[in-house]
Amino acid sequence: MCGIIGYTGRRPAVPVVVEGLRSLEYRGYDSAGVSFVHRGSLRVIRSQGKLANLEERLVTEPVVTATCAMGHTRWATHGVPAERNAHPHASGDQTIAIVHNGIIENHQELKDELVKLGHVFYSETDTEVLVNLIAERRRSEPDLLHAFASALREAKGAYAVCMMHKDEPNTLYAARMSAPLIFGVGTGEHFVASDIPAFLPYTRQVVFLEDGEIVKADAGGYQLMHLSDLSEISRESQTILWDMQAARKGGYRHFMLKEIFEQPRVVTDCLTGRIPHGHEGVLLPELEHLPTPKRLHIVACGTSFHSGSWGRHLLEPWAGIPTQVEIASEFRYREATLLDAEDMVLVISQSGETADTLAALRSVRERGGKVIGLCNVVGSSIAREADAVIYTQAGPEISVASTKAMCSQMVMLALLALHWKGRKEGGAPGTPSVMEAVELLQSLPAILDDHMPAMRERAVELARAYSEATNFFYLGRGHCFPLACEGALKLKELSYIHAEGYAAGEMKHGPIALVDPAFPTFVLALNDALLPKVESNIKEIQARRGKVIALTNPGVDLPVDDRWDIPAMPAPFSAFVALPALQLFSYAMADYLGKDVDQPRNLAKSVTVE
Ligand code: AGP
Repeated sequence: MCGIIGYTGRRPAVPVVVEGLRSLEYRGYDSAGVSFVHRGSLRVIRSQGKLANLEERLVTEPVVTATCAMGHTRWATHGVPAERNAHPHASGDQTIAIVHNGIIENHQELKDELVKLGHVFYSETDTEVLVNLIAERRRSEPDLLHAFASALREAKGAYAVCMMHKDEPNTLYAARMSAPLIFGVGTGEHFVASDIPAFLPYTRQVVFLEDGEIVKADAGGYQLMHLSDLSEISRESQTILWDMQAARKGGYRHFMLKEIFEQPRVVTDCLTGRIPHGHEGVLLPELEHLPTPKRLHIVACGTSFHSGSWGRHLLEPWAGIPTQVEIASEFRYREATLLDAEDMVLVISQSGETADTLAALRSVRERGGKVIGLCNVVGSSIAREADAVIYTQAGPEISVASTKAMCSQMVMLALLALHWKGRKEGGAPGTPSVMEAVELLQSLPAILDDHMPAMRERAVELARAYSEATNFFYLGRGHCFPLACEGALKLKELSYIHAEGYAAGEMKHGPIALVDPAFPTFVLALNDALLPKVESNIKEIQARRGKVIALTNPGVDLPVDDRWDIPAMPAPFSAFVALPALQLFSYAMADYLGKDVDQPRNLAKSVTVE
C-alpha cells in the first residue's frame, strides 16, 4: 500500500510534496515523512499518524529553499506504525534516502549480508534494508544510477521506489516492479507518484511506468530506462482528462457521502455511449476480439467481490453463462482450477491495483486463459494487463469505503450480461428483454436523485435508534444476499460494529443461536419472488425475540420493529436502490458514533499487498 510522491523543479518542493501526500492519504495514514537536501545535508522529517502531524513538524524546518523533495504516507506492512518505521529511510551513512511502496520479500537474506558488512539497522522495515543495499552497491558501481539498478535487481518482491542523494540535490531516481508508479511531465518540473491526483494541480501529462523500468529526472529533463540493462526507452506522455474538482469534497462533510450521492451521475456515465439510439443491443467494443464465454469465473476482493456475486444473478439467467465467483486471494492459489479453452475470467477491481486480484489475473494469463478487467482507475496494472478492459466510469473514489464504485460495477455487469445475451439471443424465459432492461437502467438516475435525500434522513433515524448495538446480522436471498454481505462489510469497516451478512435461509443452520433482543437483524425484504421465504426467516428471528429492521417496499405488509420503505423496482434492478440505503445506514452510524468516516482505522484504499 502506501503513497509516494517526488518533485523536482523550480517551486519550493516540500509544499508540493505535502499537498501531493494529502491526495495520497487514502493509500495509508499510519505515518508520513518527507526528505530533501539542505546545505549539502540530507534532511529526513517523519511523523507517526496522519499528515497533519508531519505538517506541524515541518513548521520549524528550513524547507523553503529545496526545489526537489520526496514524501511518503504509510500503511504499515513491515514494522508497527511508529516514527522509526516511517519513510523516508536513509542509509546509515546519511547519503541516500528512499521512499518505498511494496514488500521486499528477500529482505532478511539481504539484511543478514549487510549486517555482516557492518550496516546497522534502526527500523523493522524492508525499506531500510533496500536503502542500505543501494549505499553498499554504490561502493563498487560507477555511479548512483548503476548502484540503484544493481540493488533493485537483487531485490525480490514488489516496489515502487523513489530515491535522492545528498550530492545530487535536484535529481530523483524512481523505479517500479509490481506496485503503481506514475511519472508526471510538467514545464521545467517533473513528478513521480503512486497516483495521478498527487500532481494533477501541476500537470496532466503522464508517463505510465511499466514493471522493470527506472526513471531519472531533474528540472530540465528525464531519462526512462530498462532496469535490466539501463537501455533507454522512448515513450510518449499521455494527457489525463480528469477534473481535480472531482477529487474534492464538493460541499459534503465526507468524501463517502459525496460519493454515495454521486451514484445517479455514475449510472448515467456508465450508460453513456453503450446503447446508441436506434441500436438494438448493448455496445461493448472492448470485447469485440473476444468470444462469448462458455463459462465465466469472476475474481475480486471485498466490495468488488460482492458486485461480482450480485452480477452472477444476472449473467446466469440473462446470458445463460454458468458463472462462478471467487475471492481473489483464494482463487489464485487453486492451481487446480480447471479453465477450459472457452472459459473466461472477469477480474473486478476499483483500483486496478489489488495485489491478489492482479496475481490471479497473471496466473490465469500464464496458463493461457483470457481475462477481462472491470476497473475504475485508468491505466492501472489490471487495466493494462488484461486481454480487454472495461472502465466503470465512477470517477476518482477517495473514501476508503467503496460506494459508487460498486454501483458502477453493477451497471457494467448488467450491461455485460445484456451484451452477451444479445450475442447469444439466449436467456431463460421470463428474463427482461434487452430493451426492457435498458429502460429500467435508464430510469435509475431520476429515481435515485428523487429519493436519496429522504433515504439519508431515514438512515440517520435508524442509526440513532440502533447505535448501542454491538452486533448485527444482515440477511438477504437471491441477488439480495451479496447486498446483505456488502451492508455488513460497510457497517463493520466504518463503525467497527461486528456485522455478518448471511443468506437468509442459512440462519437456521447455526447463526440463529446468536439472536437475542440485543442482536438486531437488518433484512433485505424487497417485494420480489423470494419475499415469502424472507418473511418466514423474519418470523424465525422474531420468535427468538430478535429485533428486525426491514428494508422493503411500500405496500409490503411486514410486522417488524422498524421498516424502511424504498421505491419499488423489479428485481434485480431494485439492488440499485437498496445499495445506497445500506451505504447511508453505515455512513450515518459511523458519523453518529464519531468515527473517522473517510479513513477508517487499519484500512487503506488500495490493497497492494497480498
Ligand atoms: C470496501 O469498502 C473496501 N474498500 C475493500 O473491500 C475493497 O473493495 C477491496 O479492497 C477491493 O478493492 P479493489 O476494488 O480496488 O480491487
